[in-house]
Amino acid sequence: MKREWSSRLTFILAAVGSAVGLGNIWKFPYITGEYGGGVFIFAYLVCICLIGLPIMLAEIALGRRGKQSPVNTMFQLSQEAGAHPAWSILGWSGMVAGCLILSYYSVIAGEVMAYSFRASSGVFNHQSVDGVKGILTSLVSDPEKLLAWHTIFMALTVVAVARGVKGGIEKAVTFLMPALFVLLLVLVGYAMNSGGFEQALDFMFTPDADKFFYARNGLGEYLMDAEGEKIFTWKPMMVAMGHAFFTLSLGMGAIMMYGSYLNRHVSIGQMALVIVTLDTVVALLAGLAIFPLVFANGLNPAAGPGLIFETLPLAFGNMAGGTFIGTLFFVLLFFAALTSAISLIEPTVAWLIESKGLRRIKAAVWTGAVIWFIGLATIFSMTGTTIGDITENLLSWVGFSDTELKAGFFKYNLFQIIEFFTASIMLPIGGLLIAIFSGWVMHQDSTEREFSFRSRYVYPVWQVMVRYVSPFLVFMVFLNIFDILEF
Ligand code: PFF
Repeated sequence: MKREWSSRLTFILAAVGSAVGLGNIWKFPYITGEYGGGVFIFAYLVCICLIGLPIMLAEIALGRRGKQSPVNTMFQLSQEAGAHPAWSILGWSGMVAGCLILSYYSVIAGEVMAYSFRASSGVFNHQSVDGVKGILTSLVSDPEKLLAWHTIFMALTVVAVARGVKGGIEKAVTFLMPALFVLLLVLVGYAMNSGGFEQALDFMFTPDADKFFYARNGLGEYLMDAEGEKIFTWKPMMVAMGHAFFTLSLGMGAIMMYGSYLNRHVSIGQMALVIVTLDTVVALLAGLAIFPLVFANGLNPAAGPGLIFETLPLAFGNMAGGTFIGTLFFVLLFFAALTSAISLIEPTVAWLIESKGLRRIKAAVWTGAVIWFIGLATIFSMTGTTIGDITENLLSWVGFSDTELKAGFFKYNLFQIIEFFTASIMLPIGGLLIAIFSGWVMHQDSTEREFSFRSRYVYPVWQVMVRYVSPFLVFMVFLNIFDILEF
């Protein structure tokens, strides 16, 4: 008999643990800042509702029906539906995406760990904007430090996964997630009085289409073509859609994997709704905590992946009890990252156990080692000697850090390329395949029975979404892929 979650709540906790992570608190604010605020958030929310939610339902249902790792689940379900076994490619691409994502996720999570120690030592106290920036630079320009933290984080992930998915996550999520939520509320409260709150609301919720649709450089200035016209780009749309998948852990089998441990009697619809709502609320709260600080301190919202590390320490350094609150915040964020990391690696580990007969420990160690190695690409992308726009390091040949020029695909560094390729290309393609498979290939009574919605109106709506709406939207955004290769 296959292991199952000990209760309905456990599944929610694990899935929320997977969904809520660096994507909400580190990535959402920094890409929102980079792509101009209001319209970006709107596009992201539309993608969450029209693509994320229906595909979340589909992924849970596929997992619960297949009861195995994504590769084998897809193989079995395609047999059941009389379809070509090549559908298991979805599981394969999911494993690749999971490993690639974790390779950089772990480096950022390592920075979070480093920051919890920095916070506890009190170095943020009464720091100026420049002081806080300096603290970040001293970390990200030191490959040895980044490597050490990346190694520690990967080791912890491997230990957690080797011990089995259930026990650890259950405990971590039950107490730590609510605590993180409360701390975010405290930070939003602080931000409300920081002097930049109104500007932040304006930035986040007032649409400014120009900032979204026209290419800008790292300093926020519009790029111009030869005729002096602004340059139109679909890239922000791809990033917004990709982020909807990323933040909900969709398109690569993580949620499918967790669905496989879910017992028959649980309502998938309710589960999905709870997960999606919590995840979105956490992201918006993170934005409301960070952007007021950005504006109150005259920082650049488009500062990039360092944004939370440049802003939150300013708050911790100046609030009463900041050393304690700051430490706690980064520790909790580390746990949120760990529960997501576990779900990134679990599809591969489960497959190695099922199909290659490896013991869990061995499977976790091997997968972790490969991911650790790929993570070096991110570390070298971030560190090095910068002269003007060009950062020289072991990987300089793949591109250079683009502080000024955000044009030309290969001007992005390897970390940025991996980040974009996984979140904005691999996950949406995975999601598209899941939608098509569950909407068109599987027999209608299998999906209908799996969901057993109470209201008879829900199933047809879901079906229209996965058959037409989500695939159409993903396809539309993808039509413009060649455009982003240039800008
Ligand atoms: N959803 C996680 C986050 O927002 O941090 C990241 C993630 C986990 C992406 C698992 C994909 C995944 F399968």
